[in-house]
Amino acid sequence: MIRLENLEKTFIVDGRSVPALRGISLDVPAGEVFGIIGRSGAGKSTLIRMLNLLERPDSGRIVIDGQDVTSLSETALRGMRQQVGMVFQHFNLLSSRTVAENVRLPLELIRSGSRAEQNARVDELLELVGLAAHRDKYPSQLSGGQKQRVGIARALANRPKLLLCDEATSALDPQTTQSILDLIADINKQLKLTVVLITHEMGVIRRIADRVAVIDGGRIVEIGPVAEVFLHPQQSATQSMVAELSHADELEDSGLLDSASGAVWRLTFVGATTHEPILFDTAHRYGLSFSLLQGTVSRLKDLPYGQLVVEWQGETDKLAAAREGLAARNVVVEVLR
Ligand SMILES: Nc1ncnc2c1ncn2[C@@H]1O[C@H](COP(=O)(O)OP(=O)(O)OP(=O)(O)O)[C@@H](O)[C@H]1O
Ligand SMILES: [Mg+2]
Repeated sequence: MIRLENLEKTFIVDGRSVPALRGISLDVPAGEVFGIIGRSGAGKSTLIRMLNLLERPDSGRIVIDGQDVTSLSETALRGMRQQVGMVFQHFNLLSSRTVAENVRLPLELIRSGSRAEQNARVDELLELVGLAAHRDKYPSQLSGGQKQRVGIARALANRPKLLLCDEATSALDPQTTQSILDLIADINKQLKLTVVLITHEMGVIRRIADRVAVIDGGRIVEIGPVAEVFLHPQQSATQSMVAELSHADELEDSGLLDSASGAVWRLTFVGATTHEPILFDTAHRYGLSFSLLQGTVSRLKDLPYGQLVVEWQGETDKLAAAREGLAARNVVVEVLR
């Protein structure tokens, strides 16, 4: 659905050049939820704005659904933009229009169908996002989560192939964030829509994305399936973002590592292994005892995973055998002490 080849973008501010993107290349297959994460100023918004050419690259190619959009005429570009819906952090609703009128706006702009057909489409969309009862309210009468539902309905009005979300949940509380992410995930499945979302929160990526690119200083520093990038981050930019979620910093601060007298390992496992009694089995089979210093058992989208920091007491050769035994059960073992 998307192919980016070597995108470069530099802004000139007061005669000084500010590089925003430095050679970004990536592919997103149709139907995927693709996440882009990075710190403030990393280049995320610049990148997502290129996907509907709100921003033009200095060089490089942008191919959407087989079409090189960098070479399109203005008229052709307008047609292309109808295929791309966009959801914004601050909703960008028109305050003087009702919910239904906001959702109808993109249909009016391209004069799509009769008024009755437009209204039928609006009702269908409001049903989809769970706002049917609010169709005649004004934005000021809605909560943040409801406003974002209007934003999503509006983005879907022209039946786009691609949905872009720029920090769509950053202005929302955690519970509302979850409900909006659930809605986006539903839409992705139901409508088989490709979704690109940018965020600075690893928690958003963990819940909804299939693959993720980490951008830092205008470059992709890491890219891959969420489970791989999240559980085994290679770059320091990624490690620090993951640490916020996995509480790795807390383990450092707790002093538990320094006061450990045994071997300390971080065990990481995904899928069915999450339901196996691996700690008990290992202790039992190799004659070891253990204590748990820290642990997370959760899900990455639909994939269960666990990450446990365990202190083991026992003989050296037994520990070595246990390590091999765990590896044989697809548990990744990192020796921390
Ligand atoms: N229109 C512009 N004019 C000048 N500089 C810009 C413009 N847009 C972005 N930049 C600069 O390009 C860099 C990347 O900005 P961008 O908005 O893409 O970052 P971001 O990752 O979205 O950050 P945030 O998380 O804060 O939204 C920054 O250094 C920014 O100052
Ligand atoms: Mg931004």
